[in-house]
Amino acid sequence: MMTKEENDELTQVGPGTPMGDVLRHYWYPVCFTRELDEFPVMQTRLLGENWAVFKTGDGGYGIVDERCPHRGASLVYGIVEDDGLRCGYHGWKFDTAGECVEILAEPDSSPKFRAGCSVRSGEAQALGGLVWAYVGDGPAPELPRYEAYVMEGIRDVGHATIPCNWLQIMENSVDPYHVEALHGNYFEFIAEQQGTPMPESFGGNKHEKVAFDPFEHGIIKRRLLVGQDEESDDWKIGHPLVFPYCMWVGGNGVFQMQIRVPVDDTHTRVMFYTVHAPEGIPTPEGDRCIDYEFEWIDENGKYIVDYIEGQDIMAWVTQGLVADRVNEKITKSDVGVIACRRMFKEAIEAVRNGQDPIAVVREPHDSIKLPLERSKFGRGAQFATDWVNDGSMRYSPIADELKQLHLDAAAARDDLAPS
Ligand code: FES
Ligand SMILES: [Fe+2]
Repeated sequence: MMTKEENDELTQVGPGTPMGDVLRHYWYPVCFTRELDEFPVMQTRLLGENWAVFKTGDGGYGIVDERCPHRGASLVYGIVEDDGLRCGYHGWKFDTAGECVEILAEPDSSPKFRAGCSVRSGEAQALGGLVWAYVGDGPAPELPRYEAYVMEGIRDVGHATIPCNWLQIMENSVDPYHVEALHGNYFEFIAEQQGTPMPESFGGNKHEKVAFDPFEHGIIKRRLLVGQDEESDDWKIGHPLVFPYCMWVGGNGVFQMQIRVPVDDTHTRVMFYTVHAPEGIPTPEGDRCIDYEFEWIDENGKYIVDYIEGQDIMAWVTQGLVADRVNEKITKSDVGVIACRRMFKEAIEAVRNGQDPIAVVREPHDSIKLPLERSKFGRGAQFATDWVNDGSMRYSPIADELKQLHLDAAAARDDLAPS
């Protein structure tokens, strides 16, 4: 339980708020590289502010405040040139650093004259089919090259913007007991009602114990299921909440970074960034990255709860636009949620003291590997195909291809063949 002020401090993401200051220490995906290849400038909303993100003719990426500093027209309707973005209204031109480099109607304008005319800017770069932005103050940290974004495989990215604060989604990442309730018992109930089969991998996972270990990128979540021994991957390795807005999950040739971009206090852009790279068959080559919007609400406004992530979204969104943490009853089983809140509070303290919060990466690097079970719930290839069948990936335009990929790999490995 906490006070309203404490809840506000933990959840508000706008400029000048304590958590907003923390969150402005990280890079965020703001669009797909595909989108800027199709049209070179678009709007993106991040941390309660609107931005124009663009790709110049020279191939550089930029992100600037959407509002032109001249008289406020939208730079999303600007002209993209080889080395910058020109406002559509009166033609002020800005480079990727936001400097005003030309004022059309003031051809003799000196650099001194233009100096006060720059637009607020961040930094942008491409990685793994996504365009990433840093909009904080001070020198940008390194963009963390987590394994998901650099590994080879087919990239399949389902996304949707959902109406709730990002923190309740992160709390869900350290709440293992919901797996046996929401994705087990509730899924079974819905499957019975609909007369459809329950995915094998998600049923009957009774937790014996759970553990949460802070580490340099967030919190490692471990579980021991009834019937498992302590040598199992679920207990020995686990998988992490990646501070402050991701979770790394998967196993058996399907790897997923669950990304939750705080759009503003009451909206979160959810991305299931999945890389399919099953062992046993040649790695699919190239940077292929498929993106699509998955469905989570039906034409009657009801949540679609007959798949894994749809169940999660129902739980996240029905907690309210911003979960009411003043009126909640935290129990011992919420120990992960408590650890998560503690980590966010420590991050606020660190930033107040002028330090980087946890998981800000300053060292250049090739890639960052995160802990991950190889065999999820000990269920072999069954897990991957269940996940494509009964997760948001069922909305993927290449779902059939993905299923076949895992079936072929299982056959090549003589693995537990999915039924
Ligand atoms: S409003 Fe942008 S140049 Fe005038
Ligand atoms: Fe879940």
